[in-house]
Amino acid sequence: MTAVDLMAPDDDKKKTSTSSLHHQQDATAASTHSNIRRLEGKVAIVTGGSRGIGEAIVRAFVRHGAVVVVADIDDAGGQALAAALGPQLCAYVHCNVSEEADVERAVATTLERHGRLDVLCNNAGVLGRQARGAKSIASLDADEFAHVLRVNALGAALGMKHAARAMVPRRAGSIVSVASVAGVLGGLGPHAYTASKHAVVGLTKNAACELGEHGIRVNCISPFGVATPMLVNAWRQEDDADERNAAPSEEEVEKMEEMVRSMATLKGATLRAGDIAEAAVFLASDESRYVSGHNLVVDGGVTTSRNVIGL
Ligand SMILES: NC(=O)c1ccc[n+]([C@@H]2O[C@H](COP(=O)([O-])OP(=O)(O)OC[C@H]3O[C@@H](n4cnc5c(N)ncnc54)[C@H](O)[C@@H]3O)[C@@H](O)[C@H]2O)c1
Repeated sequence: MTAVDLMAPDDDKKKTSTSSLHHQQDATAASTHSNIRRLEGKVAIVTGGSRGIGEAIVRAFVRHGAVVVVADIDDAGGQALAAALGPQLCAYVHCNVSEEADVERAVATTLERHGRLDVLCNNAGVLGRQARGAKSIASLDADEFAHVLRVNALGAALGMKHAARAMVPRRAGSIVSVASVAGVLGGLGPHAYTASKHAVVGLTKNAACELGEHGIRVNCISPFGVATPMLVNAWRQEDDADERNAAPSEEEVEKMEEMVRSMATLKGATLRAGDIAEAAVFLASDESRYVSGHNLVVDGGVTTSRNVIGL
């Protein structure tokens, strides 16, 4: 298994990841030069690891020496990724993060197989049914709101619960959740999504308070826009169900990246899934051993600076 295998998906097997290499190349190019394996020997679970940002995190964790269990509802994508990385390094378990029995089973399977859990990455998330622009609060769909909160907020909480049960007896562990810039600032996502990501940031701080007593660190990452299937699909026509599940074309990815670049404060760079994966590696590794309760915002300054006076 070479570094290139870990970076590049097997395109024949992994049809949902046409743009994964593209997404990861900036950050991975920098990190593979160092040959430092920051997660050597660690055991990790990555939820929502079958595609998008989660897939990039899985590949980065494995490249840095971890063994990873991918927990997702996309069985085909997750199984193909695990097969591409090899059974010694990566396994797949079906897990709907909003179902407690599934989350409990994913942790139990990891413990049976590897004897411990060092890192949980709560990455699984949904944007909710939204095409162009957020829907009015005056026409809020209660079922849709509850669904988004169940996956994004309850899913992260259940992950923390069962990871804590595995980590507390060992008095060590790192829990990293993927929140969003929509968990920092209003106006960057639909209402349900924004509420759910604020919940993830709050939950991270609260869990860090409690679990710090047991030597467990709890942090989150808040990315700006990455041209994953989630973001590209959100810009497609809402009523075309098949289209929403289709992998983004190169053209769609480029269009989305251009749109994100045009909104970004930091110029000359394109945010890719690999950049989020590098942040996750840092928070999962011992290099961040005194960082807890932190929201690592990876947004090129979008939520902190606005050039109102034309600087
Ligand atoms: N793409 C962005 O611009 C962006 C920005 C900020 C935050 N995020 C967050 O990053 C995370 C990953 O998003 P992405 O863009 O890679 O999305 P994606 O849709 O490309 O991938 C999400 C993955 O989560 C899985 N998933 C969905 N619901 C699940 C459930 N109930 N249980 C288990 N797995 C489930 C999907 O099958 C998929 O593999 C999400 O939490 C998202 O909110 C994304």
